[in-house]
Amino acid sequence: MSRKSRKFDHLHFSLSSNLRTSDFSDCLLVHQSISGVSFEDTDITTSLGGIPLDIPVFINAITGGAPETREINKSLASAARRAGLAMAVGSQMSALLNEDMEESFKVIREENPGGIIFANLGAYADLEMAERAVEMIQADALQVHLNIPQELVMKEGDRDFRGYLDNITALAKGLKIPLMVKEVGFGVSMETAQTLLEAGVRLLDVGGRGGTNFLDIEAQRRGIQLEKEWLNWGIPTLISLVEALHVFKGKGEVIASGGISNSFNLAKSLALGSKAAGIAGIPLKIIMEEGEDSFLDWMGELIHSLKVLMVMVGVTNLEELKKVPLVIRGKTGEWLSTRGIDITHLAQQR
Ligand SMILES: Cc1cc2nc3c(=O)[nH]c(=O)nc-3n(C[C@H](O)[C@H](O)[C@H](O)COP(=O)(O)O)c2cc1C
Repeated sequence: MSRKSRKFDHLHFSLSSNLRTSDFSDCLLVHQSISGVSFEDTDITTSLGGIPLDIPVFINAITGGAPETREINKSLASAARRAGLAMAVGSQMSALLNEDMEESFKVIREENPGGIIFANLGAYADLEMAERAVEMIQADALQVHLNIPQELVMKEGDRDFRGYLDNITALAKGLKIPLMVKEVGFGVSMETAQTLLEAGVRLLDVGGRGGTNFLDIEAQRRGIQLEKEWLNWGIPTLISLVEALHVFKGKGEVIASGGISNSFNLAKSLALGSKAAGIAGIPLKIIMEEGEDSFLDWMGELIHSLKVLMVMVGVTNLEELKKVPLVIRGKTGEWLSTRGIDITHLAQQR
């Protein structure tokens, strides 16, 4: 199976699947009747690894690496530019192996010369590969993805995952731009977060379970049916966020992703302490099926509703949002307590 046809399968099965939203119903923001703030004053600017972002949302890694993906990346980049969003490219491995594929990534920089763009490779990448990927699109940061369950279910996937940590350590030390390590929908545990922190990683995208499901996509590619327990493998985004933040708070920055698809799970992610949220399945589907304008409308609505929620909890910026009380209950509360994470301080902070 070539990389090129794999890319099409991922796009095809992602587009033909129903969009999934991560379940954040176990996490509640607390309404404040005397808000004391004005909607007009709400400020949603943030930063990632020192890179300023006007909006705490970015388009996460999706595609590139086949001539036909050039048009898709052009549309994604155009939508990112018009919406003022940072954007990550899909894995650039194919272009490192074959320079004919570079154009499908370079189009993103051409379309958005002044935009914030993240390069993307797997954790097999060494410093030389990383520098070539960054150079290819003049990236502002590099994403390194972790996707072991996906590789294992893929017939042609990797089977040997030794050396990842050494590579990540070398990248954290040697790269001249921020390094962001990301999961692709299986979530990051507090143990993994601790390991990555010790390896020098300061930017972590939890890529939790609840949105795009690569076990489902790979099973569809193979024409096999996976049992529910396999399809539910991974750490839900909400739990992964709290676990990663438990380790990273005050030491690094955490990004929410994996089924972040509405203002409620966005606001809750930011209130828990995330610096921003990555979205992939949603922009892909809206832009491919309805066009860029529909995506811009969707983004406008998302931001408006985020600001409405900020006013309802009485804050005007994202630093204040991180201090509002959050009640975590149910199975999520049970999981976190069993894992030794104190959730009462979140419910009582002010
Ligand atoms: C079609 C498709 C291709 C993807 N390819 C990559 C990739 O090359 N590299 C990567 O790091 N993540 C890749 N992802 C994963 C996303 O960046 C993201 O981590 C994941 O989809 C979860 O976010 P979501 O629920 O908002 O879609 C891909 C996602 C989709 C939908």
